[in-house]
Amino acid sequence: MSIIRPGVAGTQPPLLYPPYKSTILRAPAQPLVRLPESMSDLNIPVYGYFPIGETDNDLTRQYPEEPQGERIVVAGRVLDEDGRPVRGALVELWQTNAGGRYRHAKDDHPARLDPNFGGAGRTITDTEGRYQFTTIKPGAYPWRNHDNAWRPAHIHFSIFGWCFRTRLVTQMYFPGDPLIAHDPVLQAIHDERARQRLVSRFDLALTQPEWALGYRFDIVVRGSAATPFEERV
Ligand SMILES: [Fe+2]
Repeated sequence: MSIIRPGVAGTQPPLLYPPYKSTILRAPAQPLVRLPESMSDLNIPVYGYFPIGETDNDLTRQYPEEPQGERIVVAGRVLDEDGRPVRGALVELWQTNAGGRYRHAKDDHPARLDPNFGGAGRTITDTEGRYQFTTIKPGAYPWRNHDNAWRPAHIHFSIFGWCFRTRLVTQMYFPGDPLIAHDPVLQAIHDERARQRLVSRFDLALTQPEWALGYRFDIVVRGSAATPFEERV
């Protein structure tokens, strides 16, 4: 039996962080109420109605032509607090196109949609906890949180274990991005080393010659070295 060790203060984002304005409305105003768990919590389906398709982890091959932008490979492992692989986890991602535009009705950023880029993908970790995606490097986008506010380029990740209640949500950033220092979403995490866990690592070994740059992003689901998560179901 494994023992779940508690996280370390300052390594996870607080629910309320006023410089990140949306948290003012999102954060609970009343004390939390703990709901009793039941067996149904463990039986809610995770994978939806459709099996994972051949191009679900390759966002450059989901439309008739290739999308615009810088092709990248993003790969890593999903690990538990002791460095053991989390096998069979559903890893989903969503992101903007190269111009910083989401394919979403509420995104009115004046950048062009790419007819060959949807911005969503999914895959399952293998027996070593590994996942891999091919995609396009997302662009920065303005978000009106404060004056001249721009989100650094990032990719949203969701990780499911074997039931719906295990969902974790986070964001991956790119090394050397000057917007990181100005981003309240990332700066809400007090601990500098924990913030760095959200910044992917350029990996020449993962980089494919004359094809795509490689970035490595490991995800630790719990414990003192856990990846910062913005949402825990
Ligand atoms: Fe985003």
